[in-house]
Amino acid sequence: MEVRPHLVYRHDRDSQLKITQSCNGMSSIRAGDAFDLIEELEDHSVDLIATSPPYWGLRDYGMAHDESVLEQWRSTGCEDTRVPHYDWYRSAGGRLGREPFPTWYVAHLVEFFNKARPVLKDSASMWVNLGDTYFARWGSIRDGGRQGLASSRGRRRTPSGGYLHDKQLLMIPARFAIAMQDAGWILRNDLIWAKPQVLPRPEKDRLRLSHEHWFHFVLKQKAGRPQYYYDLNSCEPGGLDVVTCPTEPGSSGHSATFPSQLIRPRILSSCPPSGVLLDPFCGTGRAVVEAVRGGRTGIGFELCEPFARVASKAISAAAKSSSTGQDSTALAPAQRRKKAASE
Ligand SMILES: C[S@@+](CC[C@H](N)C(=O)[O-])C[C@H]1O[C@@H](n2cnc3c(N)ncnc32)[C@H](O)[C@@H]1O
Repeated sequence: MEVRPHLVYRHDRDSQLKITQSCNGMSSIRAGDAFDLIEELEDHSVDLIATSPPYWGLRDYGMAHDESVLEQWRSTGCEDTRVPHYDWYRSAGGRLGREPFPTWYVAHLVEFFNKARPVLKDSASMWVNLGDTYFARWGSIRDGGRQGLASSRGRRRTPSGGYLHDKQLLMIPARFAIAMQDAGWILRNDLIWAKPQVLPRPEKDRLRLSHEHWFHFVLKQKAGRPQYYYDLNSCEPGGLDVVTCPTEPGSSGHSATFPSQLIRPRILSSCPPSGVLLDPFCGTGRAVVEAVRGGRTGIGFELCEPFARVASKAISAAAKSSSTGQDSTALAPAQRRKKAASE
């Protein structure tokens, strides 16, 4: 696949500037909005999307968000129950993950993944990682910490009403998965990522959230049952849909980083050798790095320029050590066992 230079939006969205892009063979990180960058990929060019979009209402990744977006929407005469397209929302100063309602957030995610559908090969898979959150009219926005402590906090303003009620667990991952099914995606697994250690919480009237979801979607075929690449031997021993895995510290200030141990089996099982992985919300690039280490081509999109730079450096380093043959962690579990036995 050709990797083309491109223009991206800077944070103020008014000026379009060329910014850094790194290429290792064909692996690359592109800084910009995934909703724009996805249009640059060729149709039927990607084997696997593995990603974790910003969760709803949890953190800001250092990006400005205009809290007046709902008032702006109302001033156009639209009801809160109608969802603006992402383009309108963005031009009104909105950020993905900071939508005033979970319905808007879910609709924007589905809008993105539908936009991404043409770039997927018919045999492709998509793994989407999402976590849940509780409703609070004045919820905290964090700039750090996967459910962890923040170095600074903002406040999210969410109108209550209906199921949006204080203390409500919002079931956002489930709402997303059902909306994707309604949009024509086939859900193959709801893998539960169980986190053995989570930070203490002050609440005394509920259990602590200690799991997230990994949804595995595939495509409907023009005729017949879905058919897609899958190598069960590269999954965790036992092949169960609950995987216990500790969180991993993030790099360079990014705290919502995939644990390598969890993303690697998703890549090796769902992206063929030499295939192409795309992480459209790649942060500091953990999935892209694991793809490169596993002999796949990795492409990452990231809106936040500093994270994109870190990801670029990380894939350069991964490409270097893979080409020098130093890296055996990228091998599938079965291959690793074989290699260890022969040593
Ligand atoms: C949950 S984090 C992903 C972390 C990543 N999985 C890792 O291992 O580092 C979501 C990322 O999406 C980025 N992001 C938010 N909105 C975006 C957009 N519209 N386009 C591209 N990236 C975006 C955020 O800056 C953040 O780094």
